[in-house]
This record gives sequence, C-alpha cells and structure tokens, in this order.
Amino acid sequence: MAGAIYPDLAGRTVLVTGGATGIGEAIVRAFARQKSRVAFIDIQQAPAEALVRDLHEQGADVHFERADLTDIAALRTAVDTVRGRFGPITALVNNAAFDERHATQDVTPEQWDALMAVNLRHQFFAAQAVLPDMTAARGGAIVNFASISWMTGMGGMAVYTAAKSAVLGLTRSLARDYGPFNVRVNAVAPGWIRTERQQRKWITPEGEKRMLDAQCLKRWLVPDDVARFVVFLISDEAAACTSQHYVVDGGWV
Ligand SMILES: NC(=O)c1ccc[n+]([C@@H]2O[C@H](COP(=O)([O-])OP(=O)(O)OC[C@H]3O[C@@H](n4cnc5c(N)ncnc54)[C@H](O)[C@@H]3O)[C@@H](O)[C@H]2O)c1
Repeated sequence: MAGAIYPDLAGRTVLVTGGATGIGEAIVRAFARQKSRVAFIDIQQAPAEALVRDLHEQGADVHFERADLTDIAALRTAVDTVRGRFGPITALVNNAAFDERHATQDVTPEQWDALMAVNLRHQFFAAQAVLPDMTAARGGAIVNFASISWMTGMGGMAVYTAAKSAVLGLTRSLARDYGPFNVRVNAVAPGWIRTERQQRKWITPEGEKRMLDAQCLKRWLVPDDVARFVVFLISDEAAACTSQHYVVDGGWV
C-alpha cells in the first residue's frame, strides 16, 4: 500500500517483535517500504519465512530471527545476531503479544507468569537489549504495544489487560530515563484490528455490530492503519513526541 516516505528511515536498523503475522507483519512491510533494514523476531517459522521471501523478491533488506520472546536468553541472542548483521539497532517496535482469553477463577500462578511473560516482560528486556545502541548513537525510538481493552473495561482477560495497562508505566519510565540521550519511547494502543487471528478466533457477527456501534469510523480497522502510525512515530517527523500513549481505534467510545 502506498503511503508517506520518511527519508530518515532509509538504511535505519529497525527491530520488530512478533513480525511474522498480524499487525507485526504490516509493520515489517511498512518499514521495508521505507527501505529500512528491518529485522523481526517471531516464534512462527513458516509465515515468517514466507514474508522474508516475499520482501526479498521486492529487494528489501529484511531478516528473521526465530526465538520465543518469553525466553529472555533467546531474546538477547536474537538481538545480538540482528546487531551483528544489520549494525546498531536504533528503532524497536515491541509488538508481540498473545491475547488468549482466560476466566479469572481458572488462572493459576504459573499461567499468570506465562501471560505476563508473553504480553509484558519481553517489552522491557528487548528495550534493555537495544538501549545501549541508542545511547551510543545519541538517538533512537521505541514503540511499545498496549491495547484499548483495559480502557474499555473488557472482561475475560484480566491478566492480558493488566499487562497492557502496565505498558504505559514502562513507557513513561523509559522515556524519562533515556530522554537525555534523545531516545523517544511511546506506546500505541490499537482498538479492534481485523487480523487473520482475530478473524479466526474472535470476530463474530455480534462482535462486528458492537464494533460498528462503538466506533466513530464505521469500518474495520486493518493492520496497515496501525503500521502507518508506528512508522511515523519512529521517524524523525515525530521528533518531539515521547512518553505518550497514542490510541489508534477509529474513535471507540
Ligand atoms: N488485533 C487487535 O485487535 C489488537 C487490539 C489491541 C491490541 N493489539 C496489540 O497489537 C499487537 C499485535 O497484535 P496482533 O493482533 O497482530 O497479534 P497476533 O497474535 O496476530 O500476532 C502476534 C505475533 O507475535 C508472535 N508471538 C506471539 N508470542 C510470541 C513469542 N512468545 N515469541 C515470539 N513471537 C511471538 C506471533 O507468532 C505473531 O506473529 C499486540 O501487542 C496486541 O496486544 C491488537
């Protein structure tokens, strides 16, 4: 899809987590359009390899590292490999998550930890792994992924919404600590985005009606709606934006 081109993103090393499918895939494609050197980490090999093949055919500089982001040692190794291949990482998009529903009464302490690990913990450790590159470069940008689900008081996923609201605190503290190095840290909170997984798992005719009633914009939002905004936030066009939480939800009120 055509869109704005930000010249500062050409040749920039960008790392996207969860880039094989869904919104992450759209983000990887959007940075490839910017001619960035785009690397992504994911646990799903087949769609990741298909994406890399497709983008290589288009001449993009793209690289996939397979890792489970809940394994922090594996995450660190993947970041080191990306750095070795593409040079210092000055842009990070912490996109990966897993929105499995869970009934409060069924959640064990082990499940709590597992849900936090897949929805929150890796965002901190991915940032920790790339921040030295950003401070050395005297500049960088991080986008963390939140969700409007906690703002709308969505039920059936209390651990997920706890993790997604915590992303705001993480974002603000990192922005404070690294602002003196010209590193910007923001959060993006998507509304309901029609990804392949949402279509397969959660979208129903009743849900669609609820979405159309709640949103000011009367259409499904798609991954590219979010990806375009993420690319803008990482680019120098957003040079004064940090420590903020931006909602991309078509006006869900
Ligand atoms: N789609 C929506 O409606 C929606 C709404 C609000 C927030 N969000 C947020 O947007 C982001 C992207 O959402 P999405 O709908 O594209 O998600 P998705 O589930 O479709 O894709 C997530 C990607 O992350 C990868 N991933 C998951 N666990 C991983 C792990 N342990 N290690 C490595 N990779 C892993 C998956 O393989 C997948 O490619 C998430 O942070 C999500 O919470 C999405």
